[in-house]
Amino acid sequence: MKLSAKKIKQKTEYLYPVYFDKVDSTNVIARSFAENGVKEGTTIIACEQTAGKGRLGRNFLSKMGGVYFSVVLKPEILPQETLFITTAAAVAVSQAIEAVSGKKCQIKWVNDIYINNKKVCGILTEGAFEKKNCLKYAILGIGINLFEPKGGFPENLPLAGSVFCKKDKILLKRAKKEQIIAEFANVFFEFYKNLQNKDFMKEYQNRSFLTGKEITYKKDGNVYNATVVGIDDNAGLIVKRDGLTETLSHGEIQIVGMEQFAV
Ligand code: BTN
Repeated sequence: MKLSAKKIKQKTEYLYPVYFDKVDSTNVIARSFAENGVKEGTTIIACEQTAGKGRLGRNFLSKMGGVYFSVVLKPEILPQETLFITTAAAVAVSQAIEAVSGKKCQIKWVNDIYINNKKVCGILTEGAFEKKNCLKYAILGIGINLFEPKGGFPENLPLAGSVFCKKDKILLKRAKKEQIIAEFANVFFEFYKNLQNKDFMKEYQNRSFLTGKEITYKKDGNVYNATVVGIDDNAGLIVKRDGLTETLSHGEIQIVGMEQFAV
């Protein structure tokens, strides 16, 4: 199912879309474009990836039925603030998916989008640094499972889901892809202009999938059980265990009672 870069361009002033039917990873291609000095907003889009990259060195399943795109950004921020690119993007992509599907999106800290307890979208922000810890550019990669791949999701991804179900009209596929990307860009770049203001944070907190849930997490080689209290204004996960409250700034957590999402 092809996609029209021209139609995306008509709907948003922020992106310079470049479309490929199939690539290894849009993040990898966006990085090589960035190294060649393309302008901010250059966006590599594909309908299929053969080597989609996920967080923590994992693969990201990227079959036909989804849309995968990576935006070249040149932010003037500190390296540790790249986290806010991801959090702003999570809010923007949630709004975009909701706008075209009418389905409520929640954000599973830090960067997964859930609909009805299933992961439908992942986000991977990768920074490239110059000397002295200086951010040269960032690649914001987003993968959305719009439809289930042929044959369904593999058994080792029990929490993977799609925005639309089989009975949703196939003919809508193409228009939705273009609309989602443009809607995402129009929201995201408004946040991005003043990233340090964190105008997206309240909504990020309100969309939290983990708040109120029992989780386990690893710290200093130990595994702890805790209840998630919420998300703080720096996108840290506030948890409570044995009467003690602590804030996690990164790491992998597992929801008690839900199988681990190993992408
Ligand atoms: C995750 O859930 O672990 C993050 C997944 C990010 C996947 C997107 S798809 C577009 C872009 N290209 C990649 O290779 N990865 C990101």
